[in-house]
Amino acid sequence: GAPVEADIAGMAPGELRRVEWRGKPVWLIRRTPKMLESLNETQSQVLDPDSENYYQLPTPEYAKNQHRSIKPEYLVVVGICSHLGCSPSERFTPGAQPSLPDNWAGGFLCPCHGSTFDMAGRVFKNKPANANLDVPPHKYTSDTTLLIG
Ligand code: FES
Repeated sequence: GAPVEADIAGMAPGELRRVEWRGKPVWLIRRTPKMLESLNETQSQVLDPDSENYYQLPTPEYAKNQHRSIKPEYLVVVGICSHLGCSPSERFTPGAQPSLPDNWAGGFLCPCHGSTFDMAGRVFKNKPANANLDVPPHKYTSDTTLLIG
């Protein structure tokens, strides 16, 4: 499939945009400072902090870091659960999940078998999924444009 251009101009902190690449939903998320800080807390709670495993796409070298991206602020992940391919919910909220702490910065929940992921798409331990959400190959072609694929 051909690479797909994604426009991140004017994204608000916390905003999520979707593009389709090779028939997959790709999420672009501009993370807030709180979301980025939360990755320090989840570092010891996630199964594969260094993204050694993967689901369908090997993690690009530039995403094998705590924030799993080129620029910390922007996350680019495939919005498909790395267990059996369901659609995780985007940034599930404390109200919807009573067990979440009040200071919860966000993450993703797969409704099919309960896998949960942090704000870098890293799967929490003891969940059915054993890989993080895939990061598609991508690069910046300008400050506000990404090429995915
Ligand atoms: Fe997502 Fe099983 S498909 S937890």
